[in-house]
Amino acid sequence: MNERDFYHKYYQTKQGIKWAKGHTGFKNLFLDALLEMRAQMSIVGKRQRFFKKIFGREKNALMLDLGCGGGHELFTRYGNVVGVDLEMTPLENVKGLYSMVINADITYLPLRNNTFDYIVSSDVIGHIPLENKNRLISEIFRVLKPGGKTMHAVETNSNNFLYRFAQSYPDLFQKSFVEEIGGHFGLEMPQDVLNRFKKHKFELIKLEKLWGFVWSTEEYIYRFDNEYKDKSIAIKFLVAVCKILNKNIVVHAMANVFLGILNYFVESLTPLPHAQGILIACKKPL
Ligand SMILES: C[S@@+](CC[C@H](N)C(=O)[O-])C[C@H]1O[C@@H](n2cnc3c(N)ncnc32)[C@H](O)[C@@H]1O
Repeated sequence: MNERDFYHKYYQTKQGIKWAKGHTGFKNLFLDALLEMRAQMSIVGKRQRFFKKIFGREKNALMLDLGCGGGHELFTRYGNVVGVDLEMTPLENVKGLYSMVINADITYLPLRNNTFDYIVSSDVIGHIPLENKNRLISEIFRVLKPGGKTMHAVETNSNNFLYRFAQSYPDLFQKSFVEEIGGHFGLEMPQDVLNRFKKHKFELIKLEKLWGFVWSTEEYIYRFDNEYKDKSIAIKFLVAVCKILNKNIVVHAMANVFLGILNYFVESLTPLPHAQGILIACKKPL
């Protein structure tokens, strides 16, 4: 029997079928399941479920993704997507995914009135300076078709105790919560975001809170593993524990699944001003 015949036969045996599937031992299956649970409970998972609910069975929409960055494959499942961003680099990457890209400022959209069925954004509205925000919402209203829907994942300011602690050091807050986190130059309270949409005559379809004070281990480290550690022993301890948990991939995944479950309850009980972000969907009246 030559080698080719041997392996051809071997792949029909139990062991061969195992080879064909690759190395997914019990530990990996367990880890994969943990990581999948973690992803589903994360902000990304929640955001995806929110968008999916609003799109429903839509298939042929014309959609605008504001501040699209590298884009989201999810949006392309519901129709043709036009991406707008201030930066060319992400637009180069999103060209293959979206039907069209535009290099422009989203607060001055070079687009006709009443054009799109959906206008979406993800992690963008918190980046728009407060003085430009009403202009952005007016632009969304202008280019959305009557009856069209707009939905956004918005980073916000918060009144929860972690944010209050962080804001008691304004310079550090500016550095760690505004600049180093990608330029959150337009953080405002969740209610203020909602009021802006209402003021522009949008009808609210759905609003969900994102996060209370329970974050992932990475997020605690990301925001507080700096001068904040020297301001509070509790914060120093929290960062140290998160770093230990992050050392082992399985422990890290388990810790974050636990935090995700805890967040699920905390988030649902959190009053709106204590959330750190919102998912908002509105409709332009007919
Ligand atoms: C945090 S990233 C989010 C990217 C993407 N939406 C996502 O979910 O991954 C924010 C994006 O908004 C873009 N952006 C910020 N201000 C903008 C403006 N005034 N006009 C157009 N794009 C803007 C940035 O270039 C960046 O790509």
